[in-house]
Amino acid sequence: MIPAVVISHKRDRKPLSDDEIRYMVDGYAKGSIPDYQMSALAMAIYLNGMTEQEISTLTNAMIDSGSRLKRCGSHLRVDKHSTGGLGDKTSLILAPLLACCDLHVPMISGRGLGITGGTLDKLEAIEGFRTNLNEDEIEKQLHGIGCVITGASETLVPADKKLYGLRDVTATVPSIPLITASIMSKKIAETLDALVLDVKFGSGAFLPTEPLAEELARSLMRVGRDANVNTYALITDMTQPLGKMVGNACEVDESIETLQGGGPSEVRELTVELAARLLLSTALETNLDDARLRLERLLDSGAALERFERMVAWQGGDLSARRALGAETPCFAPRSGYVTAIDGQLLGQVIIAMGGGRKKAGEPIDFSVGLKMECKIGDAVQASQPLLSLLCDDPLKRLEASKLVEQAFQIGEEQPPFVPLWRDLV
Ligand code: URA
Repeated sequence: MIPAVVISHKRDRKPLSDDEIRYMVDGYAKGSIPDYQMSALAMAIYLNGMTEQEISTLTNAMIDSGSRLKRCGSHLRVDKHSTGGLGDKTSLILAPLLACCDLHVPMISGRGLGITGGTLDKLEAIEGFRTNLNEDEIEKQLHGIGCVITGASETLVPADKKLYGLRDVTATVPSIPLITASIMSKKIAETLDALVLDVKFGSGAFLPTEPLAEELARSLMRVGRDANVNTYALITDMTQPLGKMVGNACEVDESIETLQGGGPSEVRELTVELAARLLLSTALETNLDDARLRLERLLDSGAALERFERMVAWQGGDLSARRALGAETPCFAPRSGYVTAIDGQLLGQVIIAMGGGRKKAGEPIDFSVGLKMECKIGDAVQASQPLLSLLCDDPLKRLEASKLVEQAFQIGEEQPPFVPLWRDLV
């Protein structure tokens, strides 16, 4: 159950001064402000909200708790941030794709926690892939091949690492000001020229509704633009998983299919739309159709795949090593009708129940676990037709998981209205 997200700020309070915010963040990062005092501030922000000025100051104070990535050469630098969702594998495709356009992509990513997966976990399903590069290695790799996907180093926004851990245990994660400062501090510290935000709404996303996703997108965009990062946002559908595969090893396989010019159409479409916004933001293209065409050609020609292979090799990964997938077990529709809704929270729990996700930070995960979606919202299904297949070797875990799957699908008499995959934030 996601706690309510607090969006408004109380207007009848005196805003915190820049010095007060900096004193707390600096002190917390250095250890002179204890957890209990920072928890009190996080809860006050969660309950009262923050003004735009306070959010900007909080973001800047968090950036200044560490170092920023250095520029290397004259290449324009871009990145994408997604608020995360089931089956969201676009980072694996988008980073090498944009590197083929002569852009540098220093993508600092995270791990999965709760129902949504993490890019680092997916990449670690590739034998030997390193996600702990230091700043020198990041710089060399950008210089060599133009893209890197790695975890945050100890020196990049250390205040966020500490504060995020504290928010996790004090129920203060779902606050727009705190989320904005957390996400944008890490992105601005990458020293970017342009950023595209993929802000998702729906049952498989962090934010359940479109208005909340919009509110967060506006806050993120404002802070990015204030920091001179050309920031653009798409509001995207996560009422059902993206693509066919959800998991770690299986999502690497689906990303490779997409990099080969195939893959599910929605994975290709969303990746191209996000990347196209960055070609416009950096003025490499002046209209969307040309940007899309250029990116589609890079997928179809194998150029983006070749860049991905080089990125994996640079980071110590071996794509030829076998990536095991769990045994496939179908779960069947209880009756005929249309698939009207898919509960992403429950599907996330299915993955966790099978060992493919984490309940607590630091837990190990089984990369071979996953889901293969056999139908989508709006599809007509017959009784006893598979809704999805579990990928899992453990029969007991499969049994537990299949009970949850039964509750995750709603089947009705009428075809539900179509929800577009993405829309621009106007
Ligand atoms: N992702 C982040 O990096 N920070 C948040 O606060 C929420 C999601």
